[in-house]
This record gives sequence, structure tokens and C-alpha cells, in this order.
Amino acid sequence: MADYVVEARGLVQRYGDLVAVDGLDFMVEKGEVYGLIGPNGSGKTTVIKLVCGLLKPHAGSVRVLGMQVADPKLSHQIGYMPQEIAIYPDLTVHDNVRFFGEVYGLSKKEVEKRSSWISRSSRSL
Ligand SMILES: Nc1ncnc2c1ncn2[C@@H]1O[C@H](COP(=O)(O)OP(=O)(O)O)[C@@H](O)[C@H]1O
Ligand SMILES: [Mg+2]
Repeated sequence: MADYVVEARGLVQRYGDLVAVDGLDFMVEKGEVYGLIGPNGSGKTTVIKLVCGLLKPHAGSVRVLGMQVADPKLSHQIGYMPQEIAIYPDLTVHDNVRFFGEVYGLSKKEVEKRSSWISRSSRSL
């Protein structure tokens, strides 16, 4: 069992010459609600991208549930809800659900089942 849900050690992330994250260490324990706060541009989104494995750190490491974030077993264990709206307004409800279902690796049958259910439900709202 992992000691920490998130364990970041010496994280460094640069964008060109700009050092966005400079040797960050932090740990999040199981059941803990952890707030990452700071002014705009202080590197919060960059840290979240590192924790989700969307960026590879220039130095340091992040472990989630004891695994390196690059481990494919982790991709189904991490949920990320961004501040910005994460749907495509140009697509129908049905097509949004289909798109995200496919991205998350649901079977074709499951994607169809869920997208037709949500389309029917949204029509009755
Ligand atoms: N893709 C990028 N390319 C270049 N600079 C970036 C990029 N993303 C973020 N930055 C810069 O890195 C710094 C940290 O940004 P960010 O992680 O978005 O901070 P926060 O989420 O706290 O506002 C800022 O100076 C920002 O301009
Ligand atoms: Mg941000």
C-alpha cells in the first residue's frame, strides 16, 4: 500500500527559459483534501499537469498511488476536473459523450449505450 496518494519530489518544469516549477516537494495522504493555491502564473496548472502525467518533469518525480505517473495502469485511476468547461459546445450532447467515452477507452457498445441514454435524458429536461 502506498504511503501517499501523491508524492512529488524536487519537481522542476521549464517552458523555455521560464522556470514554472522550481524544485517542488509535496505529499498528499489518503483521505486528505489538499489545496494548491497561489496567484495567477505561480505554476498550479503546471503542477496538476505533472501529477496527471500530461507533462514530463525536467527534474524530480511524481508518484501517484505509489506508481510513476507514466505507468499506464494509472490513467484509469486519476480523475481531473478542470476549472474551464470541458465539453465541446459545437457538438451535440450525444457526440460529446461519444467523444469522451472513446477517449476513456469504453467499448463501442458501452459508448453507444451511455450516449443514447444521456441524449434521451437531456431531451426530457
Ligand atoms: N505552455 C506554456 N508555454 C509557455 N509558458 C507557459 C505555458 N504554460 C504555462 N506557462 C507559464 O508558466 C507559468 C506558470 O503557469 P501556470 O502553471 O498556468 O500557473 P497557474 O495555473 O498558477 O496560473 C506562467 O508564467 C505561465 O505563463
Ligand atoms: Mg491555472
